[in-house]
Amino acid sequence: MDKKKFYITTPIYYPSDKLHIGHTYCTVATDVLARYHRLLGEDVMFLTGTDEHGQKIEDKAREAGVTPKEFVDRIVEGPRGVRDLWKLMNISNDRFIRTTDDYHVKSIQYIFRRLHDNGDIYKGTYKGKYCKPCESFWTESQLKDGKCPDCGREVQDAEEEAYFFRLSKYADKIRDLLENTDFLEPRSRVNEMIRNFIDPGLEDLCVSRTSFSWGVPVDFDPGHVVYVWVDALSNYITALGYGNGRYDDYEKGWWPGVNIVGKEIVRFHSIIWPAMLMSLGEPVPKKCFGHGWLLLDGGKMSKSKGNVVDPYILAEQFGVDALRFFLMRTFPFGSDGNFSNELLIQTINTDLANDLGNLVSRTTAMAGKYFGGTLPAARRYEKERDDELVKLVLGLRDKYEDAMEHYAPHKALEEVFKVVQRANKYIDENTPWTLAKDMEQNGPRLASVLYHLLEATRVCGILLTPFMPVSMDRLFAQIGADASVQTWLSASMWAALPADVHVAKGENLFPRVDTDKALQELEAAVEAAKQAESGVELEPQLAEAVDFDTFCKSDFRVVKVKSCEAVKKSEKLLKFILDDGTGTDRQILSGIRKWYEPEALVGKTLVAIVNLPPRKMMGLESCGMLISAVHKEKGEEVLHLLMVDDAIPAGAKLC
Ligand code: MSP
Repeated sequence: MDKKKFYITTPIYYPSDKLHIGHTYCTVATDVLARYHRLLGEDVMFLTGTDEHGQKIEDKAREAGVTPKEFVDRIVEGPRGVRDLWKLMNISNDRFIRTTDDYHVKSIQYIFRRLHDNGDIYKGTYKGKYCKPCESFWTESQLKDGKCPDCGREVQDAEEEAYFFRLSKYADKIRDLLENTDFLEPRSRVNEMIRNFIDPGLEDLCVSRTSFSWGVPVDFDPGHVVYVWVDALSNYITALGYGNGRYDDYEKGWWPGVNIVGKEIVRFHSIIWPAMLMSLGEPVPKKCFGHGWLLLDGGKMSKSKGNVVDPYILAEQFGVDALRFFLMRTFPFGSDGNFSNELLIQTINTDLANDLGNLVSRTTAMAGKYFGGTLPAARRYEKERDDELVKLVLGLRDKYEDAMEHYAPHKALEEVFKVVQRANKYIDENTPWTLAKDMEQNGPRLASVLYHLLEATRVCGILLTPFMPVSMDRLFAQIGADASVQTWLSASMWAALPADVHVAKGENLFPRVDTDKALQELEAAVEAAKQAESGVELEPQLAEAVDFDTFCKSDFRVVKVKSCEAVKKSEKLLKFILDDGTGTDRQILSGIRKWYEPEALVGKTLVAIVNLPPRKMMGLESCGMLISAVHKEKGEEVLHLLMVDDAIPAGAKLC
C-alpha cells in the first residue's frame, strides 16, 4: 500500500539580512512536524527556500554595489548564509526553492498569464500606500496611525500603472473557508482576519509593479514585474512542478499541503493565497497555521532595531539539539513568547541536564555498576510500585499524538516531561542503591526497577526524536535500544527492549550550564561577531558580460539641466527638465535627493540613457535615467552624478 503523503512548508525567507532566532523558530517548528510525520511512517515532503525578489533587495544590492543576484547568492549560499544555517540546525527539508530559480520564474509567468486569461487580473492605476520593508500595499484605512500596520514604519505614496487581481470577487468564499472550516489555526487568527480584512471589505489587489525591475517580468507586458507576494506564495506549488517541467509531484498527490507561517504573514496565506488558488481552479491548502513571534524585551526583533539574536552563536554555545528543544518547549506555538538567554539556560539545566540527562545517566550508571551493563533475565515485578509508571508510559504516545496533531509541540513536550519526571521519582521511591546492598535477595527486583527505567526512557526517547534527533541517537545507543525498538509502533508497547538488554553508559547527554560563565561567553561571542561583521563588505564584482550589439542598443546622450526641483511627498526624488538636443524637453525623475540640492544642478551638463521605456513614479512620468557613479564610504553609499564638460552640446551621443 502507498504511504500517506504529507507535504509541509515553511515560509520562504527574505535574504535581505541574516536570519535570526525568530526565523529559526519557524523553521525548527516545521522541521519537528515534518520529522514527526516521518516517525508516523508517512511519506513526507518538506519544503523551504528563499524569497529573493522585490524592491528591498534591489535597493540593498545597489547600496552594496553588487547586482541583486550576487547580493542574494551571497546571503543564501555564502558562508553562514541561509543554507548553512539550516544545515547547522539539522533541518531535514527535502527541497529548497529559490524564487530566482529558472523553473520557478517560468511557473510564475504561467500562473500570472492564467489568472489574466481567466479574467481575474486586469489593468488599472495603483494609488495607495506601500511599505517597502514589508513589500506590502495598504489602503489608507488599513494604516495604523498613518504607518504600516505590520511593522509600524513609514509608508510611501505609490501611484503607477498596474495589474490588479480580483480579490474582492473571492470575499464570500474566503469568509466561508475561514469561518466554516478548520483551514486556519489557531482560531484566534480567524477572528483577526475576519475583523481586520474581511468585514471591512476585500479590495482588489495590486499585483504588478513598474517602478523597479528586480522581479519576475510579466511576459505579455514586459514593463511590469509580478508583485513579490504572488511570486512568493506560488512557491508552494511551483516547487512541486506546477507550471514547469522540473518536477512532477503536483500531480502525484502532494498537494494540498500544510503551510506553517508567522502571524504577520497569515493575511497573505489565508486570504490572498487561497483566492489565487481558487482562481486557478486548484485546491486550497489543507492547513495554514499562524504561529506567534519570539519577542525580545517585549518587542519584535529586527535588524534595524539592532536587537536580533544570532542562532549561530546560541547553537555553537549550547548545542543544536538543546536550542531546538528550548524553542519548542518554552513557547506555546500559537502565541508570542519572550526570548532571553537566561530562560534558555534555565530550560537546558532544568529539563535536559537535571531531568532527562540525569534519568539516563543514573539508570545507565546503575546498570553498569550493579550488573556490568547487561540486565539479568530474573525479575521481580511489584504491581503497586510499578503500575503507575507503566500506565503513564503506555498512555504517553496518544497524548503526544493528540498534541502534535493540533500543532502544539509545546504540549507534546509537556507530556513527555511528565513521564521523565515520574521516572526520576520512581528511582527515589525504589532506591536501587538500597536494593543493591543485598543482591541475592533483591537482585531480581533491582533488575526490574532498572528495566522499567530503561523502557520509560526509550519511549520518551522515541517521542523526543523529532525535537532532538542527534541526542536521541546517542540516548538509544546508551540504553541499548536498536532501530527496531525506536519506532512509532513500539512507542505504545511495553517491554520492547530485550530482557537481557545491554546498556553502555556514555558521555553526559546534556551537561549542566554554568549560567554566569555562559552569559559572559555569550556576550563575548556577540561582540566578536559584530566586529567580524563590521569588517566585512561585499566585494564589488563586475557585471555579467553583454554582447557588443546589445551594448550598442543603449542610447547615452549628453543633456543640460533646464530646471530641477524636489518631487512633492517624496523623500528621494528630484524632477529634472532636460535639454537633450531634440528641441523637446525631456523629463527624468531621479532618486538622488539625499545627495544634491536641486537648485545646484540647474545648468549642469550630465549624461542620460534616453531609450528606456517611460516609467511612472509618484504619478509623474520619467523618460530615461541619469547616469551616476556610486561607491561606499564608511559603509554609507555615496553618489556622484556624472558631469561632463559644459562645452559638449546637448544631444551629443556617447559611444
Ligand atoms: N518572504 C516572506 C515569506 C514568503 S512565504 C510565501 C517572509 N520572510 S521573512 O524572512 O520575513 O520571515 C520568514 C518567517 O520567519 C515568517 O514566518 C515570519 O513570521 C518568521 N519570523 C520572523 N521573525 C520572527 C520572530 N521574531 N518570531 C517568530 N517568527 C518570526 O515573511
